[in-house]
Amino acid sequence: MHGMVNIAIRAAREAGEIMIRQLNHLETLSVSEKSNNEYVTEIDKIAEKTIINIIHEHFPDHSILGEEFGKQGDNEYQWIIDPIDGTTNFIHGFPVFCVSIAVTRDDELEHGVVYDPLRQEIFSASKGQGSQLDGHKIRVSKTNSLKNSLIATGFPYRSNKDKLDEYLKTLKNVIQSTSGIRRPGSAALDLCYVACGRVDGFWEFGLRKWDVAAGALIIKEAGGIITNLIGESDYLENGNILAGNPKIHSELLEKITI
Ligand code: IPD
Ligand code: CA
Ligand code: CA
Repeated sequence: MHGMVNIAIRAAREAGEIMIRQLNHLETLSVSEKSNNEYVTEIDKIAEKTIINIIHEHFPDHSILGEEFGKQGDNEYQWIIDPIDGTTNFIHGFPVFCVSIAVTRDDELEHGVVYDPLRQEIFSASKGQGSQLDGHKIRVSKTNSLKNSLIATGFPYRSNKDKLDEYLKTLKNVIQSTSGIRRPGSAALDLCYVACGRVDGFWEFGLRKWDVAAGALIIKEAGGIITNLIGESDYLENGNILAGNPKIHSELLEKITI
């Protein structure tokens, strides 16, 4: 395993432990609203600081793009961090959230780690090396028709609420064509679930780099496809995400490009 992946796993586990400790004391959690319907807790900040400290112990020159503290440094290597993906779930004790850490080199995804501290599952990938769940190789599902597929999604509920009508059209199309839809509430985990075949596809409008970077590499290295909603490859900048096994991705594309 690559040294950077080891460090990412160590940092993600430490951040995960901080979350789990707080879960038994959610009533004391301090929460504030960052912007419309978007919340941040003290734990998001403590977890991000912990992750950054561990990265900088080993790679002091590398730059950082974190959800809570933004951009730091200017280096060919950048670590993209979402300390808690699924903060709304975390605040309510709804057991679906994770830590997401990716490394890019000259803007190319090189490594990705997503850690689910409740199930203690580590999803990881390095470019050209395949994807793993707890060290075992994973692949996307073999489901070959949308009719038999289970699809994950996320709703526009924050500053992107103006996209709700557009999104609801896509939701209606997909509901009518699949076995089921799930909205677990953590985009990074949704992407990992596509990578290991627990769901066959995923789409969401308006995601950010830190939601997507690690999961995107994990999907690609597991044989899946990830694009924007019209099938183009600028998904990280664009933020509108469509992913799936190759067959489901192409069928979903027809239902979602409206
Ligand atoms: C959110 C989660 C959620 C998705 C939102 C994201 P956060 O991340 O991934 O599933 O629907 O778009 O912002 O705010 O909990 O880090
Ligand atoms: Ca997130
Ligand atoms: Ca977050």
